[in-house]
Amino acid sequence: MTDAPLLEIRGLEVIFDGFHAVDGLDLTVREGEVRFLIGPNGAGKTTLVDAITGLVRPAGGSIRFAGEELVGQREHRIVGLGVGRTFQTPTVFEQLSVLENVDVAASFRLPFRSLLRRRRGVTDRVRRALEDVGLAELQEEPAGVLSHGQRQWLEVAMVLCQRPRLLLLDEPVAGMTGEERLRTGELTTRIAAEGTTVVVIEHDMDFVRRFATRVTVMHEGALLAEGTVAEVQQDAMVRDVYLGRPRDARGAAVVA
Ligand SMILES: Nc1ncnc2c1ncn2[C@@H]1O[C@H](COP(=O)(O)OP(=O)(O)OP(=O)(O)O)[C@@H](O)[C@H]1O
Ligand SMILES: [Mg+2]
Repeated sequence: MTDAPLLEIRGLEVIFDGFHAVDGLDLTVREGEVRFLIGPNGAGKTTLVDAITGLVRPAGGSIRFAGEELVGQREHRIVGLGVGRTFQTPTVFEQLSVLENVDVAASFRLPFRSLLRRRRGVTDRVRRALEDVGLAELQEEPAGVLSHGQRQWLEVAMVLCQRPRLLLLDEPVAGMTGEERLRTGELTTRIAAEGTTVVVIEHDMDFVRRFATRVTVMHEGALLAEGTVAEVQQDAMVRDVYLGRPRDARGAAVVA
């Protein structure tokens, strides 16, 4: 890990019909880091990822990635700069094979004119991404037959083959079995070790405890706390947010 900030967010605002989903958020992520992002339902975690990736347009603030301003850039350009993301609900093409899904995604980042010329390179990247996520043996199967956990991995492979510098994972282990969670945690660690900076949104505190080093807590669209898992679990404000309001089982787990 170097000290250079890869992602620098300052005073970010996202407003939906007068509602401040992200409300003056500051966040810095350094190159090579695996940062966990937690917070109650509706805290604005997914909206933050949507803003970084150009899916929603912020009303104010700045998002600098490798020194470049992302606010106002188009989605495709942000992917081209090296920002990849997965979605809370996996979005794969069910009729296409596992391999074809990754292949389509791999081509997305290439300029149209170089598509044919670069085919060989793409094929290598597709194979590598499928091996990374452990789906190489299922590559000929239609994506529709995959389990929920396997679809999440396919989505990760679809982003990995684009060689992102920053990978944003929105609740990658939701709905996974214990064994799948473990494999996903190991995958995340491995991706970071190979040089990709990773931001993981997660509710499952067992998973966070096991795989996180640094955790950022969001609440009502802003940064509430930041530190090691132990530090944020002991933080009075964090405990208050998770204990002092009606909550679901996922939110309650944070102080367990
Ligand atoms: N497109 C939208 N239009 C209006 N309101 C929205 C929109 N997207 C999100 N919101 C609202 O913004 C707030 C933040 O939502 P967001 O999905 O970012 O939360 P989250 O932290 O990802 O929650 P969860 O843990 O449930 O995934 C919520 O109150 C949500 O209802
Ligand atoms: Mg969300």
